[in-house]
Amino acid sequence: MPTNAATAAARLSVAPMMDWTDRHCRMLHRLMSRHTLLYTEMVTAPALVRGGARHLLRFDPVEHPVALQLGGSEPGELADAAAMGAEEGYDEINLNIGCPSDRVQSGCFGAVLMEQPALVARCVAAMVAAQPREVTVKCRIGVDDQDAETVLPDFLDHIRDAGVTRVAIHARKAWLKGLSPKENRDIPPLDYPLVFKMKDRFPDLHISVNGGITSLDQAEAFLRAGLDGVMIGRAAYHTPSEILLEADQRIFGDTSPPRTPQEIVEAILPHIAAHMDEGGRLHNVTRHMLGLFSGRPGARQWRRMLSEGAHRPGAGLEVVQSALDAMPPASKAA
Ligand SMILES: Cc1cc2nc3c(=O)[nH]c(=O)nc-3n(C[C@H](O)[C@H](O)[C@H](O)COP(=O)(O)O)c2cc1C
Repeated sequence: MPTNAATAAARLSVAPMMDWTDRHCRMLHRLMSRHTLLYTEMVTAPALVRGGARHLLRFDPVEHPVALQLGGSEPGELADAAAMGAEEGYDEINLNIGCPSDRVQSGCFGAVLMEQPALVARCVAAMVAAQPREVTVKCRIGVDDQDAETVLPDFLDHIRDAGVTRVAIHARKAWLKGLSPKENRDIPPLDYPLVFKMKDRFPDLHISVNGGITSLDQAEAFLRAGLDGVMIGRAAYHTPSEILLEADQRIFGDTSPPRTPQEIVEAILPHIAAHMDEGGRLHNVTRHMLGLFSGRPGARQWRRMLSEGAHRPGAGLEVVQSALDAMPPASKAA
């Protein structure tokens, strides 16, 4: 199993989330955990290769280890997009085979490709051949009425033979007919035992489990039970302090003390200032910070001061500073 930076970091990762895990969100998460692997939002290969959307690849070197997630189903285009990602310096190139949204289905990307393992194998083989970074896949356990017990191992066989060494499995099916993308993240039942079966069957494949994981306790339990990694999406976004502040110590064995929420806010101020100097808006960054104090006294006030304040014309760093000053001291500390 390779031991590059991204693989080591994949013990814990924050899932790719459209409109959420943009570079500002990743900066916040990186300040909270040095080691956790971070994923971009999905970027489609056609947008990069045909649409000239290279600006979508922008990231700050501080974000390493960071993985680029691509969407697509045309091997040549995915190869070109993967090469662009590697050139930009991403540590890993991931292919999205899990997203059920209509837009994505119409372009034949995402979860619908669980039905075409040979095509996915050609895609990932082309991505591997085109550039030096590790190519990984994020998939579901199946779609619609597929038999996940047979489809998933066959799918993994195909992509492993094509050069994939690491996968993240969202442990539920995508039901492509009748459910919205949001419902598809909650309604199809989770099947964690199937992910463990895949680990038994493919011991050399690095396997991360994803779906419904909401605490570091749960993540630790999956790792103790033999999985290689845990990928967390919504909980990492909505309750980042609970997932990320102690991740370095508990998941990666780092002995330095965790940062406090106050230190995180202070540490992101220069990033916000730089973004605003470039003409960006305060809200672009602060919208990702609303959950920073969740579960702590003052959390609602923080959320309100930040969301109302950041929308006012001319709003600047003082909005963040006064929201922080108003927080009870115990909530700002570890
Ligand atoms: C707002 C949002 C956007 C998402 N966008 C993507 C995406 O671009 N690519 C992808 O593979 N999964 C995407 N997902 C799915 C997540 O990566 C993850 O698989 C899913 O939320 C289940 O994990 P969780 O229960 O820990 O949130 C998205 C999820 C959410 C909530």
